[in-house]
Amino acid sequence: MRENKPSKTACKVALNVVTLGAKPGMEHILPPGIVEATANLLVVSSAARAGVVRKAGSRRMVSVREAFDWTLLGEFDAIGARKAFCERQVRNGIGAGAAQVLVLGAGYDTMGWRLAPEFSGVNFFEIDHPATARLKARGIEAMGRRDNLCLVAGDLGKRKLLDLLKDTPSWDRRARTIIVAEGLLMYLPPEAVRNLFRQGAAMTGVGSRIAFTCVPTGADGRPDAGRWTGLVLWIFKAAGEPWIWSIRPEALDLFLEETGWTHTPELEGATGQHGVEFYGVATKSPGDSETGEVPPPGQEDPPGQQV
Ligand SMILES: C[S@@+](CC[C@H](N)C(=O)[O-])C[C@H]1O[C@@H](n2cnc3c(N)ncnc32)[C@H](O)[C@@H]1O
Repeated sequence: MRENKPSKTACKVALNVVTLGAKPGMEHILPPGIVEATANLLVVSSAARAGVVRKAGSRRMVSVREAFDWTLLGEFDAIGARKAFCERQVRNGIGAGAAQVLVLGAGYDTMGWRLAPEFSGVNFFEIDHPATARLKARGIEAMGRRDNLCLVAGDLGKRKLLDLLKDTPSWDRRARTIIVAEGLLMYLPPEAVRNLFRQGAAMTGVGSRIAFTCVPTGADGRPDAGRWTGLVLWIFKAAGEPWIWSIRPEALDLFLEETGWTHTPELEGATGQHGVEFYGVATKSPGDSETGEVPPPGQEDPPGQQV
């Protein structure tokens, strides 16, 4: 991530959602209210100009996006499936007793803002890279602040979850929590991904879940973005948001076990690959509350900044 630049990929995903809103049939897949809220957030946060958002919501843009879908094959529609998957995981998790939702690398995702009033007894948290988090916070302020939605700014590639959340008074590390990492993990260094899962397990209560999307590793060891992998990886790198982490689907069980989670594909409700990504859901392993390295008092990093 570029230090002082808001994420371009977050803006691209949000514009993709707005365009999907103009595609017939998508109303049965996309979560209710997501298109309007996303379009509004992009404009009032000044992440995108009003004219750009208006054009993104046209039928013409659907044709353009479909015509250019060959680079990341299937990704245009897959963003809709991804949004539906994450929201279903959060709703199911809350139905199963979760009292906290933590969205990592939230970008201009509106799930927390939309669901916070509906689930007033649940605390929603989001973390994103500072430049993006600040812009998002401006937008949320303009759209109407939610008492139970807390935005934290911090670099997940460099900072530990523990440090980012430690000065957030409403965070309860014993609470049953749903963690969402949608379209994020590929941008983080391998050690940061491992730490994120470990600390996610250490920072949450019994019965917590993590829902995530990730890119599979190809035969050459690079993230597999399909037929045009070389071009796609180059484009993301040139945009300052390179893809640096991926995992072979068959290695997922062990990775989760080592980081304090148990793979629970039966909770997924949508198996297989969507566009270039696949999904995962895991439940916190019993007795694994302290797998994350929690430093002794006085040796911690500074806290994350609430925005
Ligand atoms: C492709 S966007 C996805 C945004 C959102 N999850 C969605 O799907 O709508 C990737 C997001 O990850 C965030 N991100 C990437 N690297 C990060 C880092 N090191 N720390 C915090 N956030 C990061 C970006 O700022 C961006 O919002």
